[in-house]
Amino acid sequence: MRSSRILSLGRHLPSRVVTNDELGELLDTTDAWIRKRTGIRERRWVVPEDGGPADLAAPACREALDRAGLTPSDVDLVLFATLTPDRTFPGSGCLLLPLIGCEGTPALDIRNQCTGFLYALSVADQFVRTGAADHVLVVGSEVHSTGLDLSDAGRHVAVLFGDGAAAAVVGPGTPSRRIHGTVLHADGTHADVLTTTHPGSRHHPRLTAAHLEAGLHFPRMDGRRVFRMACEKVPDVVHELLQLEGACLDDVDLLVPHQANQRINAMVGERLGLSPDKVFHDIATLGNTTAASIPLALYDAEAQGLLTPGSRILLTAFGAGLTWGASLLTW
Ligand code: UT7
Repeated sequence: MRSSRILSLGRHLPSRVVTNDELGELLDTTDAWIRKRTGIRERRWVVPEDGGPADLAAPACREALDRAGLTPSDVDLVLFATLTPDRTFPGSGCLLLPLIGCEGTPALDIRNQCTGFLYALSVADQFVRTGAADHVLVVGSEVHSTGLDLSDAGRHVAVLFGDGAAAAVVGPGTPSRRIHGTVLHADGTHADVLTTTHPGSRHHPRLTAAHLEAGLHFPRMDGRRVFRMACEKVPDVVHELLQLEGACLDDVDLLVPHQANQRINAMVGERLGLSPDKVFHDIATLGNTTAASIPLALYDAEAQGLLTPGSRILLTAFGAGLTWGASLLTW
């Protein structure tokens, strides 16, 4: 069976930069608190003209296709990972297709939150390995800023999230440049530790003025529990993956983790015994962009010359669901 690899990356960020000091004018927070607890200095937030996640994704996809030397007609499948879809339905993948000239191409939305990109990458890997597709466009795109609780009650969540999009073209790999494998997990037992419950089809009706008044349409998070669980589950899934692939941590050149909190990633690196220079961070300027964060981080790491052909890259994610996973690639 053939293998797959990431052929190219593209990204698109809204131009509006929101600094911690600006958030300090909206909320009871400070630049010092946000930097110390999360590592974030600023994030991007959309303005109305930027549109939704499908609109942000379109230029990222065009860049990725250009860099792979491909045209829209070469795309066999679009996978769109987001937890902030443009609409309840249809999916953002469908909305994206006419924006990039891929009308008629199958599109699948993937709703696995911060682990969405790894789920999508794994699906793309399977399609390419089996020959069912030659080129899969894997997108992570989010617009959080239109749905954050900017009252003091929501400050621990509102300061974390940023908007942005990135895309990867996954195509045939080679023995020396390929996705080795991905391990994925999910468990709804702890769904309530990080969730947005309304509107939801289990509520009669889905959304009322009382729900809005109570702020049930905003994300809610038990940050300390999520933090603790991320620091346990991520090292576990890395060991599981490396064992399956017959690899070890000494083989890893760079860990590119989901960017939820710089302290989580530093602690995961420490628990794995990786030296700090092997853990990639770009949360300082982007915040937590959930499904977009891993492809955005790969884009930044590549721009910094950290992804060279043959380097071993470990990707990790943990987030709402709960969902978590890890992938091992040779770039
Ligand atoms: O990507 C999806 C997965 N998400 C995550 O992985 C996020 C995981 N969790 C975290 O990153 C951290 O828990 C947070 C950054 C959200 C919070 O950091 P923390 O160190 O866990 O703080 P905390 O929630 O324990 O709160 C400490 C204090 C509290 O005050 P008291 O009770 O000690 O007086 C909070 O009220 O910090 C206060 N606080 C804030 N202060 C200023 C909470 N949010 C803020 C804020 N500004 N934005």
